[in-house]
Amino acid sequence: MIDLRSDTVTKPSEAMRHFMAQAPVGDDVFDEDPMVHELQQEVAALLGKEAALYCPSGCMTNQLAVNIQTQPGDEVILEADAHIFNYETTAASFLSRVQLNPVRAKSKGILTINDVDDAIREPAYYMPISRLLVIENTHNRAGGTIYTIDRVKELSEFARSKGLLMHLDGARLWNACAATGVSPKEYAQHFDTVSVCFSKGLGAPVGSAICGTNEHITKARRMRKIWGGGMRQAGIIAAGALFALRNNRERVKDDNTKAHKFAEIIAKNAKNATIDMESVESNIVLIDLKVKNPDVSKILSDLTVKGVKLSQGKKTSLRAVAHLDVTIEECEKAAGIVAEYLS
Ligand SMILES: Cc1ncc(COP(=O)(O)O)c(C=O)c1O
Repeated sequence: MIDLRSDTVTKPSEAMRHFMAQAPVGDDVFDEDPMVHELQQEVAALLGKEAALYCPSGCMTNQLAVNIQTQPGDEVILEADAHIFNYETTAASFLSRVQLNPVRAKSKGILTINDVDDAIREPAYYMPISRLLVIENTHNRAGGTIYTIDRVKELSEFARSKGLLMHLDGARLWNACAATGVSPKEYAQHFDTVSVCFSKGLGAPVGSAICGTNEHITKARRMRKIWGGGMRQAGIIAAGALFALRNNRERVKDDNTKAHKFAEIIAKNAKNATIDMESVESNIVLIDLKVKNPDVSKILSDLTVKGVKLSQGKKTSLRAVAHLDVTIEECEKAAGIVAEYLS
């Protein structure tokens, strides 16, 4: 079975498991876990931030970022396909009592200054208060598309001139860095808070970090506890994340290459599907189905029978994600099977 549903399906390698088994641990609710401390310091330094907090998931780190930077009644501006808007189960309104203001970007899910400008509210007592701009890089639902550093810089300067705070959903920031050659720190400098995941391209079993100032992280630690995210001997899993950060960041570029190869084969050979090759910028591929009203769940289960697991992208598209546990040969083979089926 070639499983391309997500880059979250990877399993820890023998070397990672060994490192985890050896990890010195302590009670992290008492802030006494040495492995968690090491991970938090290393990721904060990599992103050029004062501090970081290890959390169970990217949903939690995103939601903490929203929570600690808003007041109930504020508004958060984000792209209409953003993870926070589509896949976090209304958490922002549920937990932080803010309103999300989704903006549909005209191209590749990448926001422009005009998009953001249109979304900012006029100052009036009866209007929401525009407080936070969220950028997702890479942009998952848009097909792994990438913000250039120039776009991030201009958006950040504009947002700040309008009094907005900035959060980066960098679940796959590693893939954006691998594709552009821009360092995590260069991207991160334009944001107040940054969320990064260890459990996607880096291949760790669990966890994400929110990074920001000491003050952000003190507030985030308190909210993490309120939301039930205080973990005891978390060093066991933090060790997997640290191993991943140290050893698997460089290789993420291979996943981008695998995805590109996979996309090329399908774009060339599948008669009933198209791929916007310009949008294949990292490790995610969206396959748009040309058939009318496609039964996506049937297509997915037929492909599983043929040995390839994909997931649903948007309503009429399939999604494939390259990762650590598939080879380029497997991606080519899977592409052949998918192309044949979609012809
Ligand atoms: C862009 C983005 N942000 C956040 C998340 C949430 O991560 P988690 O699954 O760890 O909650 C994901 C998960 O796929 C994601 O793609």
